[in-house]
Amino acid sequence: MRVYVSDEAHSSIDKGMDILGLGLENLVKIQTDKCFKIKTKVLEEKIKKDLKNGYSPIGIIGIAGTTNTGSVDPLNKLGEIAKKYKLWYMIDAAYGGPAAKINKKLFYGIEKADSLLINPHKWFFVPFEVACVMVKNKKNLKNTFNLVPEYLTGGVEKNEREDLMNYSIQLSKDFKALKVWMTIKVYGTSILKNAIINDIQMANYAYGIVMRSKEFYPIHKPELSIFCFQYIPRKKHINKNLINKKIISLIEKDGRIFLAGTIINKENVLRINCTNHRRKKKDIDFLFLVLKQIGEKAESLLS
Ligand SMILES: Cc1ncc(COP(=O)(O)O)c(C=O)c1O
Repeated sequence: MRVYVSDEAHSSIDKGMDILGLGLENLVKIQTDKCFKIKTKVLEEKIKKDLKNGYSPIGIIGIAGTTNTGSVDPLNKLGEIAKKYKLWYMIDAAYGGPAAKINKKLFYGIEKADSLLINPHKWFFVPFEVACVMVKNKKNLKNTFNLVPEYLTGGVEKNEREDLMNYSIQLSKDFKALKVWMTIKVYGTSILKNAIINDIQMANYAYGIVMRSKEFYPIHKPELSIFCFQYIPRKKHINKNLINKKIISLIEKDGRIFLAGTIINKENVLRINCTNHRRKKKDIDFLFLVLKQIGEKAESLLS
């Protein structure tokens, strides 16, 4: 059995494979291109090779907004490959999903998914925590999870009895959908949409600053609200990785701003994710003002 995903996949996919006992060795990680999108040619070659070697490919996972850079895989092409080889097509849109209506070109083919993951507690501004899986064919979900204990058999033969317990692992569960519904009801879709548009603009504004600066270097051009970049040490003998790692720890001590670092192509980078409806250009200006000061401090500490 084989499931395919890009090497930019979130660690929860590895965890899921492991917990379900499917075996981590059956999760095949496919290389990404310079924009951090899955290489579809490599994927198809791998599927063909696996078929030849007697493995059973069962699914492809596309990522609509990677955790590191917010990159969106070529969703339509992945859908075509999934169809060609009769594979289940799942899209991890946990973070990026809410932007699908804003940049239709980028998310082209998202509707081809058999199942789609969206976490409304991420970019849909819903309070923690609510993850949501949408499945195209409801029957598939019921066939997987339908298990009625004896004490709940009353009325199961009636067509109108539709128990949500038959659509997921949990039997008893709270009403998580309420907060998603209330978020839409209270704010309305246009406020949510504008907040997402603003977030993407903020990431691009940060990109513009980095492009014009001498102190920073962009790792990519943001597609969504995430942007990764590096501080470039002025003193040539200072290691770029070391200083970017140092900057993250100094940011925490400094306390004026907060951002996370990550590792991309084995290099330590600085990463911002602008998912905050209150964020304005002046906040991004302030971020880089502080980052320059912290960068200089890191340089003097590492000299
Ligand atoms: C693309 C993607 N998938 C899955 C997850 C896991 O989501 P959670 O942390 O809400 O379980 C994340 C979290 O950052 C993510 O970015």
